[in-house]
Amino acid sequence: MTTGFTRRQFARAGAVASLAAVLPRGVFAAPTANHKAIVRADDTIGLVRPEFHSHFAEHLGSCVYGGLWVGPKSPIENVEGFRKAAVDYLKVLGVPVLRWPGGCYADDYHWREGIGPAARRPKRVNIHWGNYLEDNSFGTHEFIRFCRLIGAEPYFAANVGSGSPQEMRDWIEYCNFPSGSALADERAANGSPEPFRVKYWGVGNELWGCGGNFRPDGAGAEFRRFASYARAFGGTEPFLVGCGPSGNDARWTRGFMDALAGSRLPDGYSVHYYEGGDHPPLEFTPEATAAQLNIFPKVERTIIEQRALLDTYDPGRKIGICLDEWGVWDRIPQKDQDRNGALWQQSSLRSAVAAGLGLNIFNRQADKLYMCNIAQMVNVLQSVLLTDGPEGKNCVRTTTYYAFMLFKPHRGKTAVPVDMGAWSYDGPPLYDGQPGLSISASRSGSELVVSLVNPRTDADIEVECVLRGARARQGRAQILHDADLNAYNSFDHPDRVVIQPHEVAVEPDRLRIMLPAMSVATVTLEVE
Ligand code: AHR
Repeated sequence: MTTGFTRRQFARAGAVASLAAVLPRGVFAAPTANHKAIVRADDTIGLVRPEFHSHFAEHLGSCVYGGLWVGPKSPIENVEGFRKAAVDYLKVLGVPVLRWPGGCYADDYHWREGIGPAARRPKRVNIHWGNYLEDNSFGTHEFIRFCRLIGAEPYFAANVGSGSPQEMRDWIEYCNFPSGSALADERAANGSPEPFRVKYWGVGNELWGCGGNFRPDGAGAEFRRFASYARAFGGTEPFLVGCGPSGNDARWTRGFMDALAGSRLPDGYSVHYYEGGDHPPLEFTPEATAAQLNIFPKVERTIIEQRALLDTYDPGRKIGICLDEWGVWDRIPQKDQDRNGALWQQSSLRSAVAAGLGLNIFNRQADKLYMCNIAQMVNVLQSVLLTDGPEGKNCVRTTTYYAFMLFKPHRGKTAVPVDMGAWSYDGPPLYDGQPGLSISASRSGSELVVSLVNPRTDADIEVECVLRGARARQGRAQILHDADLNAYNSFDHPDRVVIQPHEVAVEPDRLRIMLPAMSVATVTLEVE
């Protein structure tokens, strides 16, 4: 079936030149390039684990306190103290796994301070994120309750840097031992007779930095020590995540893994990779955008190379790579942090394009990844929600939220390869060093999902995807786009950048779609 197909009319060199003179920074008029790709729908990369779309919430700025957690007495509409609007939006999005309480905060957190009657919990100074006071009213029980409300699996990051193996071991027993031990009974007395059955346990966070400034062999030795006391209780086997590198640091991985020789290996191995930006979130130029988005090929290379390195220690691939912090980290103005909390960052169309590039990578490298957690869930860095606008405005879904929504149909499908094929272009000169078109695809039965990201600020791209191993009956497309790369969803204009239907031409053996400069699109095809 073929639907109508509109080509943008202003893609002429003359039009570009005259429009460019009157458009503000970040607003562009683009010429058109052509790209051919082949979707190999009968081939297999691996399962698109829903866990690739997981999140991270740290005690940092207004992520937890004042963001997700407002307390049961708040005038803000809440469910048992959790911001209701956030709960509702996150339920729609679907959060497979949520990591907590840090981040750097994890290695200065002592879980016993966050249980028992809230009024008796000690006030603590958050030393990593501005020395502000936290009252510990959000602790283990609150976190578990929040996870249950939004349907997420909890992932705890335990304290290695300033904690002890006993502290982690006791936390596991408190959460998972069914009943009868002093810790299990204490949990019951605190309102939860049923064990929490927490599977995911991070053994520290960024041990090479805020988690204790370890050397790789020292971090490996800590993993050995902490893992010795982590036990399965009530049938819940702890999945231990060892602390991996920042970026593609092979020296760290070798040192860490060498130190584990002859002992228990981790089940997961964390890698952190932020995509830094040297402009304030809403003031990106095309050049700064290209510089930031060009980091993503390095993220993909990191996954491939770290996997290959781990394979030399673990040929059976039992250790899963957990990219448990990723996302754009822009130059955040101090005034935004003073007003809204540390690392408060708005998401723009550029951030959504970045999210699309990352999520495409996860599909393409599905066989090498276990979990990925965007940093962070609310208000901090590349969040999916912002809270507390002027005049009591409650909660807004960012452009990043919508990028994740566009990728939701891939969850649980089998990723299939996409050959990127030929590229042609006959317009005026394009910027050097611009990031390239990105595509991924997945299939389950008669549904084939193709996601396409045009990260160029200087060219629309007309894409033709030839289908191998499947014939399309019909399809539909959705897109996230704006003419301004700095466009964003504000409390006054919460629906400025939202998912829209988009035209796609579908024939039995191919699809054609026009991707405007800076856009993320998903095509869902019914195939046979
Ligand atoms: O996400 C913000 C911080 O970035 C985390 O606390 C830390 O793990 C990383 O350096």
